[in-house]
Amino acid sequence: MDQKQRQRIIDKHRDSLTRYGYHPNALYWSGRDIQEIRFKVLADIGIQDGDSVLDVGCGFGDFKSWAVAQDIQLNYTGIDLSPDILAQAKSRHADGVFLLGDLFDMGFDEKSFDWVILSGALNEQLHDDSTYAKAVIKQMYTLCRKGVAFNMLDARFLKAHDLHSQIPEDILLYCQQICSDWLLVDDYLKNDFSMYMRRV
Ligand SMILES: C[S@@+](CC[C@H](N)C(=O)[O-])C[C@H]1O[C@@H](n2cnc3c(N)ncnc32)[C@H](O)[C@@H]1O
Repeated sequence: MDQKQRQRIIDKHRDSLTRYGYHPNALYWSGRDIQEIRFKVLADIGIQDGDSVLDVGCGFGDFKSWAVAQDIQLNYTGIDLSPDILAQAKSRHADGVFLLGDLFDMGFDEKSFDWVILSGALNEQLHDDSTYAKAVIKQMYTLCRKGVAFNMLDARFLKAHDLHSQIPEDILLYCQQICSDWLLVDDYLKNDFSMYMRRV
């Protein structure tokens, strides 16, 4: 991702936060229900009470709050490119670690986290034939001890050219090159699919 693309993501989230405040709309979700359907699919990979989680593009850290509501206390680290969104996240969570930047700004060691998750942070259109998204997926897998769960927009149904989307089977083929224990979850929202990649 180049500097201009990074700045565009920062600017659009500053604008959305000004417009909507602390609300899923500021994260470009249509509502809380849709956001939480995605959270549940990611958590269903097997995230349990006491696990450590890295949340890439954490937004307000809402996954952490949602997990607490399900009686799952996490050792939680969130990273996000937007300083404005991240400041809100920090102010809303007394515990948890919140770091500014993308995955390649961080110096995490291999297998630093039980789980590495991502919801919505690969939806930015970078016009790079998914090169950045694929690099993020690979790095997420490097950082996990137990597994990775992420979602993407489904290019078969989403026709918004300003958003990055992919054909599920193409991402599945990519994930199969990295990991032998994988699952494509494609039955929860029409425009969205998730991938699980577990370490064996
Ligand atoms: C659709 S929102 C989802 C936020 C959160 N995951 C949730 O579901 O509530 C996407 C978030 O990812 C952040 N983001 C976008 N691209 C990113 C990247 N390459 N690295 C880190 N954060 C990114 C945005 O600033 C935004 O907060």
